[in-house]
Amino acid sequence: MTILVTGGAGYIGSHAVQRLLRDGHRVVSLDNFFRGHARAMGLLGAKFPGKLESVVGDVTNRECVLEAIRTFGVTTVMHFAAHAYVGESVEQPLVYYHNNVTGLVSVLWACDQAGAGGKRVTRFVFSSSCSTYGQPPAGMIPVREDCPQAPVSPYGRTKLIGEQILRDYAESKRMAGTEFACTFLRYFNVCGCDRSGVLGEDHTPETHLIPVVLQAAMGQRPHVGLFGTDYPTPDGTCVRDYVHVEDLVDAHVRAMSTANAADVRAYNVGIGKGYSVRQIVDTVRAVTGREIKVVEQPRRAGDPPEVFNDPTKIKRELGWNPQVTDIREMIASAWKWFEANPRGYGA
Ligand SMILES: NC(=O)c1ccc[n+]([C@@H]2O[C@H](COP(=O)([O-])OP(=O)(O)OC[C@H]3O[C@@H](n4cnc5c(N)ncnc54)[C@H](O)[C@@H]3O)[C@@H](O)[C@H]2O)c1
Repeated sequence: MTILVTGGAGYIGSHAVQRLLRDGHRVVSLDNFFRGHARAMGLLGAKFPGKLESVVGDVTNRECVLEAIRTFGVTTVMHFAAHAYVGESVEQPLVYYHNNVTGLVSVLWACDQAGAGGKRVTRFVFSSSCSTYGQPPAGMIPVREDCPQAPVSPYGRTKLIGEQILRDYAESKRMAGTEFACTFLRYFNVCGCDRSGVLGEDHTPETHLIPVVLQAAMGQRPHVGLFGTDYPTPDGTCVRDYVHVEDLVDAHVRAMSTANAADVRAYNVGIGKGYSVRQIVDTVRAVTGREIKVVEQPRRAGDPPEVFNDPTKIKRELGWNPQVTDIREMIASAWKWFEANPRGYGA
């Protein structure tokens, strides 16, 4: 099968590319390298010679996407390409709506056009986010997929709009009797690195908690800010759910391979356990053996005290069974890559 992975040079996309290549698929990565890494593509190309096509292109350029789909006979799309910083989306909403919403419309247009004369894209997996839930109402944590979606940032809204566009597109295909199935995966906090040690997490700027704390452990940051220490949680800091990037990718593979024509499905992807910010810092200390300075700061607006997933639906329907459920193991896999690549892919 030939699979188009948009954003294939990014953190999660590159891990997906590696898993799909390992499974024997032909993979076309389409990335504009705005925040992706040519080096990740180079490493994967060398590891799986002749199996990976790395197209440098922008998903908002629909002709470019169409050409990639037609040239390589793509039948499945995993759409990761997006801008993904909540704060940046508040400052630059139009950039986010253009990249994330126009980008998705462009990819779907290309799928549609390609189907008119060649191989048809029949499976689509969309990177959605737990941020589509915003602040879940009291009594709805752990969060199930039927929790009301009320995002509180432009970023979260681009993901919710993306789900709505896909629902409408899938319905039009169903009415026309044309095969198309889509799955939205609403990720919780993705972490960890490829356990074979090739791929890692290298965002600039880095905003995700675990890499930020690891950077502090390596002396690349003077301290870690604890935003809010008086929440109604066991140690006063915010509690979040984490998922190892390879387990997340496994959810994509299951979504792709279990979909039936006309399916429109949504699943939360998080292990179903919450860890506090202090627990993450303490676990990084234990894993790295290094001291980390923390600076207590006021709460940030819009941070819910505690959010974690109810993984019942994805386990039941996709048979998803995360291999890494211990936060220490998640952090150890990230540390292994960070220690070997202190400058990330720039090393
Ligand atoms: N990392 C997380 O914890 C998390 C949580 C929820 C959802 N997500 C979603 O998962 C997806 C991947 O996230 P990530 O952490 O790997 O981010 P990332 O920034 O590492 O990867 C995104 C990739 O998409 C590429 N890209 C962006 N816009 C593009 C465009 N217009 N054309 C072509 N390529 C483009 C970037 O260059 C980058 O390689 C995103 O859709 C993000 O919103 C991530």
